[in-house]
Amino acid sequence: MNGKIYIIGTGPGAIEYMCQRAINAIAASEVIVGYKTYTKQIESLIEGKELLSSGMRQEVERCRQVIDIALSGKTVSMISSGDAGIYGMAGVILEMLATDQIEVEVEVVPGITSAISSASLVGAPLMNDFAVISLSDLMTPWEVIIKRIECAAVGDFAIALYNPKSRERIKQIEIFRDILLKHRSGETPVAIVRDAMREGCETELCTLSDMLEKEIDMTTTLIVGNSQTYVAQGRMITPRGYKL
Ligand SMILES: C[S@@+](CC[C@H](N)C(=O)[O-])C[C@H]1O[C@@H](n2cnc3c(N)ncnc32)[C@H](O)[C@@H]1O
Repeated sequence: MNGKIYIIGTGPGAIEYMCQRAINAIAASEVIVGYKTYTKQIESLIEGKELLSSGMRQEVERCRQVIDIALSGKTVSMISSGDAGIYGMAGVILEMLATDQIEVEVEVVPGITSAISSASLVGAPLMNDFAVISLSDLMTPWEVIIKRIECAAVGDFAIALYNPKSRERIKQIEIFRDILLKHRSGETPVAIVRDAMREGCETELCTLSDMLEKEIDMTTTLIVGNSQTYVAQGRMITPRGYKL
């Protein structure tokens, strides 16, 4: 008989921000698979279990491994940070199962994605409609990303920006900022959140005008306000529209 696959979002980092279902699923699993930074963060939950951790850029192999383990009859948890269905591993495993027409029990367990953990650390910047955009053009063509940035800017969406800048990818954040400035004031608040809810956690509030002077890398998520967003008492707030 086949086993079961849990695809788990572990949230931003600290175990107390994981949902109980994720903790139960890990407890029910015989094998844990995941990128080592994330499996390390939940070390105390996986003690005594078979652990297969690997480095970055081995995502496809890792997903195939998870399916093979389930087909061998074991219950296996695939660990992603944040939510597994947001730039994580959930889609990859489900696509593989569909492509190869493999029938196996799967449960996707949600986690707090970094847009949400980051927003909570700086106030309430996502109180109204918002868009989530990744600046990584490894798998999405850059022209498509530009179009999405433009649409979010024109639509006055607050924006949660993932994968904002890496060592090799430095121009994209400048283009992002320039597109936003065509539609929004330079004074629009921007939050830079580093390592939300894990070691090294830091937040900084700045504006569209000066954001490029700040330290931005792959451990950060940016939140750009909409035209109504303001900063008060050190908190970034996007009004929902209540009369107060
Ligand atoms: C490949 S995406 C993974 C997103 C993840 N599945 C989620 O739902 O948060 C990686 C990007 O997520 C963001 N990120 C993930 N965890 C973060 C954290 N704890 N603090 C700030 N940003 C984070 C960063 O922008 C990073 O470059």
